[in-house]
Amino acid sequence: MPKILVGNWKMVGLPEEGSPLLVAVAQAAAQSPAQVVVCPPAIWIERVVAKFVGVPVSVGGQDCHSEPQGAYTGDIAAPMLKAAGCTHVIVGHSERRATYNESSASVQRKAARAIEAGLIPIICIGETLAERESGKADEVVTQQLRESLPATAKAGNFVLAYEPVWAIGSGKIPSMEDISQMHAVIVSVAAQLLSLAPSAVSVLYGGSVKPDNAAAILATPGVAGVLVGGASVKAEEFCRIIDAA
Ligand code: PGA
Repeated sequence: MPKILVGNWKMVGLPEEGSPLLVAVAQAAAQSPAQVVVCPPAIWIERVVAKFVGVPVSVGGQDCHSEPQGAYTGDIAAPMLKAAGCTHVIVGHSERRATYNESSASVQRKAARAIEAGLIPIICIGETLAERESGKADEVVTQQLRESLPATAKAGNFVLAYEPVWAIGSGKIPSMEDISQMHAVIVSVAAQLLSLAPSAVSVLYGGSVKPDNAAAILATPGVAGVLVGGASVKAEEFCRIIDAA
């Protein structure tokens, strides 16, 4: 299976900074067997989609609303992302769960709307440091997973991302054993919930993925790819991660 590499640009940079990044990512992706997806701020999606015509890079949103349309000022619906040329959308990122109080129930509705719109939701789950230190990581992540996965998820129409909250933007990562162990838990719970073969459940790892740890993370059993934040807006760093795959 080709590795899936997702770049989450968050709310960083301006278009003039983005252009050299897009050129470099297009070149690196063209030489890589990996599936590369970039998730720019919504206002740039159409511009980025236009840049990647004929290039093997997909574009995703960073969030979508839990309704397909309506009076929700400032929000973006899954069918709008689809119409703009997206193939994927991140839902349930820990920054949104924390800053906007997004519950797993809301994440589940967003993921369902994404699937209805023909997008692949990248459903994020992960424990805080306090939860890991108190030995509750498996329990917390399993519960988030059960509550965030929509019933319409089936082979090929969704991706999961394990992102320990304490690893995001901190430079700290779990041990490869801990990553592998958590991915095994996630695969087994998701496969059971959805009556799928374990091989049909793809789990990305996210949190402080950098050029110097990407190869080891990507080689860890159970890791289908990576979700990259900070390093995905630095051309040289993201291209080295693509090369590592
Ligand atoms: P980071 O972010 O790579 O900067 O740690 C990952 C993410 O938030 O998805």
